[in-house]
Amino acid sequence: MRILVLGSGAREHAIITALLRETVPEDAAPHEITAAPGNAGIALDVPVVALDPTNGDIVAEYAIDNEIELVIIGPEAPLVAGVADKLRTRGIAVFGPSKAAAALEGSKTFAKRIMDAAGVPTGRATRAGNLDEAESAIDAYGAPYVIKADGLAAGKGVLVTGDRTAALEHAEYWLQHGAVLVEEFLAGQEVSLFLLSDGHTVLPLSPAQDYKRAYDRDAGPNTGGMGAYSPLPWLPAGFVDDVIERIALPTIHALADEQKPFIGLLYCGLIVAPDNSVRVIEFNARFGDPETQVVLPRLVTPLSGLLFAAATGGLGGLPHPEFSDEVAVTVVLASEGYPENPITGRPITGLQDVTDVTIAHAATATIDGGFVATGGRVLSVVATGDTFADARAKAYAALEHIHLEGSHFRTDIAERVA
Ligand code: AMP
Ligand code: GLY
Repeated sequence: MRILVLGSGAREHAIITALLRETVPEDAAPHEITAAPGNAGIALDVPVVALDPTNGDIVAEYAIDNEIELVIIGPEAPLVAGVADKLRTRGIAVFGPSKAAAALEGSKTFAKRIMDAAGVPTGRATRAGNLDEAESAIDAYGAPYVIKADGLAAGKGVLVTGDRTAALEHAEYWLQHGAVLVEEFLAGQEVSLFLLSDGHTVLPLSPAQDYKRAYDRDAGPNTGGMGAYSPLPWLPAGFVDDVIERIALPTIHALADEQKPFIGLLYCGLIVAPDNSVRVIEFNARFGDPETQVVLPRLVTPLSGLLFAAATGGLGGLPHPEFSDEVAVTVVLASEGYPENPITGRPITGLQDVTDVTIAHAATATIDGGFVATGGRVLSVVATGDTFADARAKAYAALEHIHLEGSHFRTDIAERVA
């Protein structure tokens, strides 16, 4: 297949790695994969093309000129910008929802309305359009306070805090950009479950857990995600089937009822409470980063076939994707100052010395033949193994060889489960 992957992060690198690893029949040609815009690590594996992934007309032109058979949209920005709509109008198979369906991620109030319509279990929430409304909601729910920007905020929109003043300040700041949601705090373990959807049917991938806070023991600010592992051996029996029946299918059907079929990846961000009840904290309309880096290395079923089937309405009747018994751990290396003010432009050395792991590049460029960091999350070091102890040991051993001045990473990824 001729495949175009849009995006430039470690998630996209992991998707490409999974596509390249597929075994194709002996008489078939390997996939021809291109990334736009990609990054320096992706460019080691496949051709990259410098086009703006949020410009639907340009992406469609490129796809037609290059006879692309499947476009995979990695990040949320092109989805919310309507790139999938432009591609579908031109008859191009695309894995990624329309702008209308991507509002499930792009607008938290839209997501809450769909969950209400679908009877999906989630925390109570109040939409506030001004500071007075936010303050009364904050006091009505009580501490710990959960305040969320309504729209996309690049991982910075959510504050969970016991500090009422900080909660009010966060609400005040994000009210300049639109509405905020004040939510009930949900206690428990977080789970990310990805489901492929063709608009009618869903197929689950293997659950993963992400580490959202910047520092060990869940200290520090929220980030895009500092590490992940998969599978989750502690989940209650029947968890995935339960999420399909009570959360994913009702949500997909509610969207279909509104003529907004969801074709792409439904990311269910879930809380499993101590009594094993499951509630949604957020939906995303794309693969999670860094969870993808631990889910896809374990996928046995060819990824291209699954994504193409989802893109073309063909998931019905397919068996659930198969996963290996190996476990996977990823640790994210972040630039000094991430998430607040990452320092970029510094050289990364030692990558040639790592063994036993895969490196998914998140924000790198090449200058004078060497890599430099170009963003906050720089690399995902991915290790698989028979046990979590084994995979962790490989990931952390590799990190000892990688040098980026001032960088930081969490040392407790998958520790509890190991
Ligand atoms: P979100 O962007 O909605 O996923 O929120 C980012 C992170 O904030 C989540 O991964 C949780 O760790 C935390 N969070 C969000 N909503 C809640 C909630 N209602 N209760 C507890 N923690 C939450
Ligand atoms: N790791 C969280 C996300 O992708 O949104």
